[in-house]
Amino acid sequence: MKIKAGILGCGYYLPEKIMTNADLEKIVDTSDEWIRTRTGIEERRIAAEGECTSDMALKAAERAIASAGIKKEDIDLIVLATICPDYAWPATACMTAAKLGFDDIPAFDVSAACSGFIYALTVARSMVESGLYKKVLLIAAEKFSTYLDWTDRNTCVLMGDGAGAMIIGEGSTSEIMSTYISADGSHPDYLCQPGGGSVHPLSQEVLDKKLNFMHMNGKEIYVNAVEKMPLALDKAMQLAGVTPEQVDFTIFHQANIRIIQYIAKKFNVPDEKNIVNIQKYGNTSAATIPIAFAEAWEAGRIKKGNIVAFSAFGGGLTWGGAVVKV
Ligand SMILES: CC(C)(COP(=O)(O)OP(=O)(O)OC[C@H]1O[C@@H](n2cnc3c(N)ncnc32)[C@H](O)[C@@H]1OP(=O)(O)O)[C@@H](O)C(=O)NCCC(=O)NCCS
Repeated sequence: MKIKAGILGCGYYLPEKIMTNADLEKIVDTSDEWIRTRTGIEERRIAAEGECTSDMALKAAERAIASAGIKKEDIDLIVLATICPDYAWPATACMTAAKLGFDDIPAFDVSAACSGFIYALTVARSMVESGLYKKVLLIAAEKFSTYLDWTDRNTCVLMGDGAGAMIIGEGSTSEIMSTYISADGSHPDYLCQPGGGSVHPLSQEVLDKKLNFMHMNGKEIYVNAVEKMPLALDKAMQLAGVTPEQVDFTIFHQANIRIIQYIAKKFNVPDEKNIVNIQKYGNTSAATIPIAFAEAWEAGRIKKGNIVAFSAFGGGLTWGGAVVKV
């Protein structure tokens, strides 16, 4: 019989340190009012000194394993979405595996920026449904604070650190009803870390020009996000065979409250069905959706049997959507 993958457990981790908009006012020429009205963000979490992406991934993973009620040894594959790796290479999934106590398990990263979770979910689902792996530990973890120029008000106010995780395996009741992913690489410059790769290898000039930090064309990203995120949501719902009315909750990538509200309005999603936490955590890139999912699950807001629809957009450009029955 055909294997159907589902979500067996979930968890999330956020660093303790809170950075408020008032804290940012002391660093760059910005205001709480500007950040709140333009983005919806009130505060974000910042990883402790020495706390790296795999440390956050580990904590989210441990909570997801406990939530699934499985033994760690049941996991046979680790897929980790990040663009804030511990090292340029090897993959952060490998260090996370080692920290979990594994020394003989496949582990690799998926790089799809803020759409990373949807991409990794697609990979995990395919691995389970092909029969190749039984229990995939899917993690999205980002230490974005490392990649921010803290003198650039255009970018440093937007992002935060955090991690979310899920166990994907054959579901008895839960089911990943659809996944949809796509990309257009003709505009890498709209949102990227230009320096440190093979185009601009690390050099004094790269550091002087601050090319090792996040660079963004906010307007282009905004315009593309409001086009692609509804498209991805629509595709995912069509593939799942559900209407917006049948969806119990939506979780959109938490990049900007105005983008979130635009999509919600387009699909007639009332506030009580739209899970939003951008005010507390900012944009944690690939981690926004699994953090919001696990937080809502732990709070008892999302329940077994609910249908939840996701949509994300990010650098690449990449975008994607998914519909899951919990
Ligand atoms: C970045 C973003 C919030 C800017 O909002 P906006 O309403 O488009 O603002 P604008 O770009 O028109 O900038 C307006 C002014 O605010 C200024 N500004 C930018 N950041 C600021 C800040 N943190 N504080 C105060 N002023 C700021 C700009 O310099 C600009 O000033 P100017 O008109 O004198 O040049 C918005 O474009 C956005 O959300 N884009 C998508 C970002 C995103 O989602 N990124 C991640 C994708 S996964």
